[in-house]
Amino acid sequence: DNYQLEDKFGRRFNYLRLSITDVCNFSCSYCLPNGYQCDTPREFLTQAEITTVVSAFAKLGTKKIRLTGGEPCLRKDLPEIIKRCKATSGISEVALTTNGFNLLNNVDEYKAAGLDAINVSIDSLDPKMFQLITGHDKLQHILNGIARAQQIGIKRIKVNAVLAKAFNHNQLKDYLAWIKHQRVTVRFIELMETGNGTQFFEQNHLSGQGVKDSLLAAGWLQVVKGTLNGPAQEFWHPDYQGRIGLIMPYSKDFCQSCNRLRVSALGKLHLCLFADQGIDLRSALNSGTTENAAEQTIKLIRSAMSNKTISHELDKRLTGATKHLAMLGG
Ligand code: GTP
Ligand code: 5AD
Ligand code: SF4
Repeated sequence: DNYQLEDKFGRRFNYLRLSITDVCNFSCSYCLPNGYQCDTPREFLTQAEITTVVSAFAKLGTKKIRLTGGEPCLRKDLPEIIKRCKATSGISEVALTTNGFNLLNNVDEYKAAGLDAINVSIDSLDPKMFQLITGHDKLQHILNGIARAQQIGIKRIKVNAVLAKAFNHNQLKDYLAWIKHQRVTVRFIELMETGNGTQFFEQNHLSGQGVKDSLLAAGWLQVVKGTLNGPAQEFWHPDYQGRIGLIMPYSKDFCQSCNRLRVSALGKLHLCLFADQGIDLRSALNSGTTENAAEQTIKLIRSAMSNKTISHELDKRLTGATKHLAMLGG
């Protein structure tokens, strides 16, 4: 295999998370509590730039592209973007992370364009709580969208649920009842501290260990991961059609299985979710013919790899929360 992206800790990167817009139509309490605020108009990556960046990564051994946002379904040209990713030689999987608002209307088109897998954020299966969290009374509509995706043959569907004290009434119990007869993987994600969510984080952060303990006590078994599977842990149970996953970025070894790199909607390469600066790929992406631009982009990506650090050091930030706040001037 052609793994050309390897860092100095031996981690191999065959998975690109590509954001195609920053805009979002929901206002989740941990992310955009006051909704998306658009100050200055910005130019997100064009179809041509996306084609170039994907082909550059593909030449470096990337096999999987996950399209993210903001909310990627807000881009009217999403089907064309999926098509272009899928048509790139070397790319075997195109996945989407979405809040799901648009699935019922558009998932047929996404599937026809070549979409292989979908992750949908649903932080509560209680319609009222869902509305409280996201600002929209759309739970049933989104569940119908998932049902449609299953009906037309999209087999790999995951649901993301952020763990937060404020959402935690019956969270596990509700999802377990749901996946008894649903072939989806529900992944609980530990709340991460973000710039605009510091207060929410401090009031709501919960460890995923409690969920893990309950699952193990109830006879759930951990799925053995392949070496290129990424940081999520997965569990299965013979009486359930669906699976449960845990994403625990605050656990000690989380970053050891990191297999992904990121490109933002403005064309910056991020070596880690928590590396804030990014390396601007945009002028390389626009340097002449697609082929030449891809070559220039490859050079930048290669030289950036030597800077990837071993860990996000989130655990240090958690224990040093006061220090972190002080550093921010708080
Ligand atoms: P799969 O491709 O299905 O494994 O999905 P994924 O978990 O990579 O993607 P998804 O977009 O569904 O993200 C789920 C959660 O994991 C989100 O909260 C992401 O922010 C978080 N996440 C994804 N990758 C990383 C990572 O490398 N580090 C950290 N700390 N969190 C991540
Ligand atoms: N902590 C944990 N998960 C988050 N997400 C967004 N912000 C955070 C955060 N601060 C999740 C969303 C979505 C996924 C892409 O990221 O719920 O499912
Ligand atoms: Fe990789 Fe950074 Fe995520 Fe850790 S936090 S898994 S290093 S992207």
